[in-house]
Amino acid sequence: MVDRQRPRRSCLAVPGSSPKMLDKARGLAADQVFLDLEDACAPLAKPEARKNIVAVLNEGGWGGKTRVVRVNDWTTEWTYRDVVEVVEGAGANLDCLMLPKVQTAEQVHALDMLLTQVEKTMGLEVGRIGIEAQIENARGLVNVDAIAAASPRIETIIFGPADFMASINMKSLVVGEQPPGYDVGDAYHYILMRILMAARAHDVQAIDGPYLQIRDVDGFRRVAGRSAALGFDGKWCLHPGQIEVCNEVFSPRQEDYDHAENILDAYDWFTSEAGGKRGAAMLGDEMIDEASRKMALVISGKGRAAGMTRTDRWTPPED
Ligand code: GLV
Ligand code: MG
Repeated sequence: MVDRQRPRRSCLAVPGSSPKMLDKARGLAADQVFLDLEDACAPLAKPEARKNIVAVLNEGGWGGKTRVVRVNDWTTEWTYRDVVEVVEGAGANLDCLMLPKVQTAEQVHALDMLLTQVEKTMGLEVGRIGIEAQIENARGLVNVDAIAAASPRIETIIFGPADFMASINMKSLVVGEQPPGYDVGDAYHYILMRILMAARAHDVQAIDGPYLQIRDVDGFRRVAGRSAALGFDGKWCLHPGQIEVCNEVFSPRQEDYDHAENILDAYDWFTSEAGGKRGAAMLGDEMIDEASRKMALVISGKGRAAGMTRTDRWTPPED
C-alpha cells in the first residue's frame, strides 16, 4: 500500500523547459517538487521539456522529496504524450502526476486508465503513481466531490487561483489578493472551504495554489496563513524564496505543538486507572475531553511530520 498522505507543506513549481532550474530544485528545502509541462512551458518547448524531466528524475538526488510532474490538461493535444513519455521514461522515479483544469471525474478516470496501461507495459507496480487534481474553474468546483472520489490514486485537490479567477470573470489581476471593490469578506473563502470539505471527506490532501508576487514575502506569508489556518496541508511556491516561509506557515507554532503533545499526555493519564478514569479533566485552566484529543492529534501529527521536538512536558500531579 502506498502512503498517499505525504509531506506537502511546500510544493515547488519548476519549469520542465529549464535544465538549470530542474537541477537547482533538487537541493532546495521544498517537501514536494512538481516539474511542469503545462503553463510554465511554452508549446514549442514541451517536447524538449519531457526529455529534460525524464533525465532529471532518473538522475536522482531528490532526497525525500515527493516528485510530481504536471502534465497538460485533457482539452489539449499534449496530455497522452506527456503521460506516455514521462511514465515510460521515468515511472519508477516518479510519485505522482498532476492533472490541471480537472472538470469531471471522467477526466481522472481517463488518466487512471492510461497510467494503468503504461504501468503494465513497463512492468511497474500498478496503482503506485498517484494523481493530484487541480480545480481551476467553476465546473471543476461543482464536481469536486466526485473528482476527489474518482480514483484511489487521488492524493490531493489543489486550488488553481489564477485560472480560477479568469474562469469566473473575477475583476482582478492580482492572484491571491482580494479583488478591488469587494470589501465585505474574503472572496476566496467559499472556494477554499469547498475544496477543503471535498478533500477531508475523501481523506486526501488540500493544497493552496500560487502567489505570483514572488518578491513580496510578507504578502505570501499573509495569504498562505489564511489557507493554513483553515486546515490546508500546503501551498505552492513559485520561487525558492517562498519555501522557508511556506514550511513555517504550514507547520504548527512551537507553543501549539507543545500544547498539543501535553493535551495528549494529560488526556491519556486522566482516562487511565491512575488518573481516575475521567472523560473530561482540567489541564491548567482548560477543560479537555475526547474532542480536545482529536484536535491535539491533528496539530501533533503536523508537528511530528515536520520533525518538531517538544520544549515543554506535562507531568501528572503528585497524588
Ligand atoms: C495554477 O495553476 C493556477 O492557475 O493558479
Ligand atoms: Mg493553472
